[in-house]
Amino acid sequence: MTKVLVATEKPFAKAAVDQIKTIVENAGFDFALLEKYNDKSALLEAVKDATAMIVRSDDVNADVVRAAKNLKIVVRAGAGYDNLDLDACTANNVVAMNTPGQNSNAVAELVFGMLISMVRNAYNGTAGTELRGKKIGIHAYGNVGIYVAKIAKGMGMEVYAFDPFVSADKIKADGVTPLDTVEELYSTCQYVSLHIPATEKTKESINYALLNRMPKGAVLINTARKEVIHADIVKLMKDRSDFAYISDIMPDNKDDFAPFEGRYFFTPKKMGAQTAEANINAGVAAANQIVDYLKNGNTTYKVN
Ligand code: 3PG
Repeated sequence: MTKVLVATEKPFAKAAVDQIKTIVENAGFDFALLEKYNDKSALLEAVKDATAMIVRSDDVNADVVRAAKNLKIVVRAGAGYDNLDLDACTANNVVAMNTPGQNSNAVAELVFGMLISMVRNAYNGTAGTELRGKKIGIHAYGNVGIYVAKIAKGMGMEVYAFDPFVSADKIKADGVTPLDTVEELYSTCQYVSLHIPATEKTKESINYALLNRMPKGAVLINTARKEVIHADIVKLMKDRSDFAYISDIMPDNKDDFAPFEGRYFFTPKKMGAQTAEANINAGVAAANQIVDYLKNGNTTYKVN
């Protein structure tokens, strides 16, 4: 038996699950689904006989990898793979992959969904502000950042980007102004949209000193990871009554933000990639990558 398990605490749209199932079964494999599981034991049980796994932000830690005795491949249907224990995967001969770019547009659209709601005061009847002519900084110009730039330009915003891993020429070719330092990005832009991964290097890197560079009426938009934000953002919001923080990832210290009513917004569950289109794109890509790996040994998108 070759069991392909979809284990998603936050389920895909049904259309995505149906398409994944078809791909898996057409390849002659068995399909299994574990959704909305509340405790880890359900995941540990489901992975026991799985050959392959598709997950989202699900915690694939060493316990899970060890429990999955037959596991050959795990695919994170999405971009960020900080939820996969890559060392455990490698130690147990499990190939780990992601599906870069597949859900990027959905995340970029949510940036503006949340930003417009913030600058229009959550539609409470008072006068807000417009985005046209304002400066937006894109912190990391990857798949999501590129879509954010396109949308921002369409809205008539001035678009800046900082990404030490992308050439200035490539950024310029998109009509975006590349900046040389992260400090410059935050000093220049009233709005900053975060698209950095959570790594040892980036954890807590978005801190008081950096954020305090932002011009008056600053809004930080986080559709990346909560781990990159330093807890001293709370002090900054205390010190600067013009500063707003909107995040698609609920911070662990969410109650600390209660005094800043109207200046923060957190989605209850990560919603950036939660569209039918993104679920289908990422889910289908993950299923195809699994079939291609198990049948042909294709390791494109391997991250370990
Ligand atoms: C990603 O890294 O692809 C996004 O954060 C989406 O995560 P999700 O699949 O858990 O919604």
